[in-house]
Amino acid sequence: MPGLAARQRRAYLPPMLVAIRIFALLLLVSLGGLWAYAWVTRAPGEGLAEAFATRLSRLMGGEVPIPSAGGAQLAQGLTLGGAFSLVDETGRAVTERDFADRWMLVYFGFTYCPDVCPTELGTMAAALDALGPAGEQVVPVFITIDPERDTPPAMADYVARFHPRMRGLTGTPEQIAEVARRYRVYYARARRAEAGDYLMDHSSFIYLVGPDGKVRTLFRPDTAPDAMAATIASQVRDRRTGIMPGRGDAAATGHAPAPG
Ligand code: NI
Repeated sequence: MPGLAARQRRAYLPPMLVAIRIFALLLLVSLGGLWAYAWVTRAPGEGLAEAFATRLSRLMGGEVPIPSAGGAQLAQGLTLGGAFSLVDETGRAVTERDFADRWMLVYFGFTYCPDVCPTELGTMAAALDALGPAGEQVVPVFITIDPERDTPPAMADYVARFHPRMRGLTGTPEQIAEVARRYRVYYARARRAEAGDYLMDHSSFIYLVGPDGKVRTLFRPDTAPDAMAATIASQVRDRRTGIMPGRGDAAATGHAPAPG
């Protein structure tokens, strides 16, 4: 009975079309709603498209850093940072233990960088200065991903241009590769037409590192100094009491711990 089958197919088509239209409408409405939600809840300095993408992929179950004011919290289970063995701007060997119980604000780059690195290091310095005495609890650290050219004297000269307390860390190519791996920093030498000179491609996040050496917050490129300062202030304040039961950093910095 071919006639009946054909009639059944015709009978089922209209409801399916209606369902598709309803589904399309719901999809449009929810995407629009998510866009509005992203617009309302995006962090200072966070682009709308970026905020939307972050929230959309979070909705789909993606492991995306959760944005907070001016920074991004790490996804659950993701640990960045930790042990390193490097050489400071005076030529002395340093490890993460030399920074134990201190907060660090860390950036990876190279001194020959024409624009991005100087901008981000300037932002770090401005954020710490904006914090006043609270900023003195945080050590600004610049780690080179171009150790062949960035010797300790070159690092000393470079970091002094940005902040009087900024540390400049270099090391052997292997040491740099290891610390970059722990922070998941991408870097590679960029090919250039002219011989001799070269640039480096590298990822450009600023890391707020807790007194335990673990990364607490990531700042994207172009984060405003004010937003960065606000996030640092809240992080340092929030974790003060719990993280440092023994050696408080009050003694180290000369500043009394904040109440609470
Ligand atoms: Ni750079």
